[in-house]
Amino acid sequence: MRQEYTTNSPEETLALGTRIGAVLKGGEILLLNGDLGAGKTLLTKGIVEGIAPGTSSEVASPSFTLVNIYNAKLDIIHVDLYRLDSEEIGNLGLEDFMDKDHVMVVEWAERAQGFFTGDTVGITIDYLGEHSRKITVTSDIPWIRS
Ligand SMILES: Nc1ncnc2c1ncn2[C@@H]1O[C@H](COP(=O)(O)OP(=O)(O)OP(=O)(O)O)[C@@H](O)[C@H]1O
Ligand SMILES: [Mg+2]
Repeated sequence: MRQEYTTNSPEETLALGTRIGAVLKGGEILLLNGDLGAGKTLLTKGIVEGIAPGTSSEVASPSFTLVNIYNAKLDIIHVDLYRLDSEEIGNLGLEDFMDKDHVMVVEWAERAQGFFTGDTVGITIDYLGEHSRKITVTSDIPWIRS
């Protein structure tokens, strides 16, 4: 399926992330794309809130740490590939987290075309205006809908 949303504030993006997070079962890999400042980290905060309500204050941009891990009902692996080349991406050890006990959220996923396989969810955030974004969700996973 492919679903398009428009959000008109950071809060609306958070709320959309929470709805997406709430339907995850484990094993999904969320591939986030969008320019600098599009809202990838903010959407991730919502996704984490949806998976484990009350835990999203832990969410911070992994742009320097590369990989953040939030231990919750499902362990959430939050990755930022912005500064990495394909060899460095291969060396992160992310394969260890591609199983039903984890949800992986990858910012700048386009840097690792073809690396992530399985239950993937593509999420692209386009800048429409200072406070508005178009968020397109694409997935073949049956439980990811509207
Ligand atoms: N509708 C909206 N949805 C998401 N963010 C919005 C929206 N309107 C304004 N913003 C602002 O855009 C910024 C998004 O920042 P965020 O760190 O989430 O972006 P990012 O895509 O993770 O950037 P980076 O590529 O640097 O990691 C925040 O300052 C947020 O308040
Ligand atoms: Mg970010």
